[in-house]
Amino acid sequence: MTLAAATVESAAVEQARLTVRVEDIAPETTTIRSLDWDRDRFDIEFGLQNGTTYNSYLIRGEKVALVDTSHAKFRQLYLDALRGEIDPATIDYIVISHTEPDHSGLVADVLELAPQATIVAAKVAIQFLEGFVHRNFDRQVVKSGDTLDLGDGHVLEFVNAPNLHWPDSIFTYDRKTQTLYTCDAFGMHYCSDDTFDEKLGDFEADYRFYYECLMAPNARSVVSAMKRMQKLGEITTIANGHGPLLRHNLNELTGRYWNWSNEKADSETVAAVFYTSGYGYSDRISQAIAHGISKTGVVVEMVDLKVADPHDVNELVGRATGIILGTPPASGELAKETLDAVGTMFAAIKGRKQTFGLFECYGGDDEPIDPLARKFRDLGLKPAFAPIRVKDEPDEQLYQVCDEAGTDLGQFLARKDALKKMKSLDSDLDKALGRLSGGLYIITAQKGDITSGMLASWVSQASFKPLGLSIAVAKDRAIESLMQVGDRFVLNVLEEGNYQHLMKHFLKRFPPGADRFEGVDTRTAANGSPVLADALAYVECEVTSRMDCEDHWLVYSTVEEGKVSNEDARTAIHHRKVGNHY
Ligand code: FEO
Repeated sequence: MTLAAATVESAAVEQARLTVRVEDIAPETTTIRSLDWDRDRFDIEFGLQNGTTYNSYLIRGEKVALVDTSHAKFRQLYLDALRGEIDPATIDYIVISHTEPDHSGLVADVLELAPQATIVAAKVAIQFLEGFVHRNFDRQVVKSGDTLDLGDGHVLEFVNAPNLHWPDSIFTYDRKTQTLYTCDAFGMHYCSDDTFDEKLGDFEADYRFYYECLMAPNARSVVSAMKRMQKLGEITTIANGHGPLLRHNLNELTGRYWNWSNEKADSETVAAVFYTSGYGYSDRISQAIAHGISKTGVVVEMVDLKVADPHDVNELVGRATGIILGTPPASGELAKETLDAVGTMFAAIKGRKQTFGLFECYGGDDEPIDPLARKFRDLGLKPAFAPIRVKDEPDEQLYQVCDEAGTDLGQFLARKDALKKMKSLDSDLDKALGRLSGGLYIITAQKGDITSGMLASWVSQASFKPLGLSIAVAKDRAIESLMQVGDRFVLNVLEEGNYQHLMKHFLKRFPPGADRFEGVDTRTAANGSPVLADALAYVECEVTSRMDCEDHWLVYSTVEEGKVSNEDARTAIHHRKVGNHY
């Protein structure tokens, strides 16, 4: 067994830096952490500032369990590290916390070396792995309360944690070491040589951002899983799947999850997302829609049609004002499992006060989308967005459409709450705050094939050296996902007396994925973003940091280049009456 931390450097130094660290973290327990120093993005909406790690664990009782593996990019490094620790032929169990490839990408490789091992996972995960590893394997399906005795005191207890953040997620608790293996939950995209969480200040912003992207859309599922966690006994270490393990600040950091999730789950406005796990692209599409909804403060509850309890479906549909459905499979085994739940969902619909959204899963045999849309309409529901049709393997553009569709639905559902809040501020303060004024600007950005534009007025120069500016962007704005750290955009300054047409255009409500620049005269800036031909001036910016201001992101950017088109003209000014809404 390794007594001191060891680091294996990647040979491919000219590429992204990949290293592996192996360290004992508890009696008979070792972590193999794959450090991905330069990864700068997970999904389009999830820019990374500090790389990430993929954490795997070995527990050596009388029997040996491996908890999760690593990303396929670490194949050689990870397998070398694993073989340095143990003869793979002696591994008895491989616990799969969930099946996304950043943790299970090397399961097939490990099974090749350890064909005797039994895969331990949730039922849904086993079904997915059958199609993923292309070989026979022994399996043990586990659910909350099940245990697995490795001997020498290492009794593993399992907890279902669906939607944290994948349908098949489970936690594993080792009673001997009081370690809870949580994979994505309580993780963070933060790469450092530190195995544990000593320096809270270094990573707490990454911890929060990770929560907002992955866990906030499933706040009620977080609360449910944490209630189940509380029954396990004392937890002294959270062995997560990304970033440093939680030990020094465990209570503080789990407490934050509890508070953030309860605050979000408190909202009375609920949207229910029905999907079929493991079918086509249902999982990721439904997550993208949920992410978009959660930006508006509306609570999302995800329901996997394969395991939906009819009573729960009935109760949820009774109180949800938004119903989103991914087309279930039309035939085969999966259809048998899902169609009853879809029938229960339709039977529970109340009608006129509810709104709906539909998306295709691209699973090869989807129920046709148009008859389903008709059925919703016949029951009196209004569509929140046009059905999302998937004709090809989804790309980032499609996921952006899903995210924006979710936000549209959330904004529609939240409009009553928003009006109530608008009226609740003390009127003197409200008016005084309204005397703050600013210029009028259009932010324009392009990332890959995705473009966006937004009217902004909360803009200010923020520094001289380097030249920099700050912009406050509401969290439910589509352009927010193109303003991650490292992203580039253009700030177009509008001209006094010559801005109404641009203001009118960019204040329009665009359908999800619509081209914001259709009919607008633009050229391309050096940084790739559109410059508006009618702007008085423009500056090219690069985001260097973001501060979380609850309902806004305060985005600080350094300025690279800029030009004024008319030296004699002045900036258009925005005078407001009140300070509690735009
Ligand atoms: Fe870290 Fe859901 O994978």
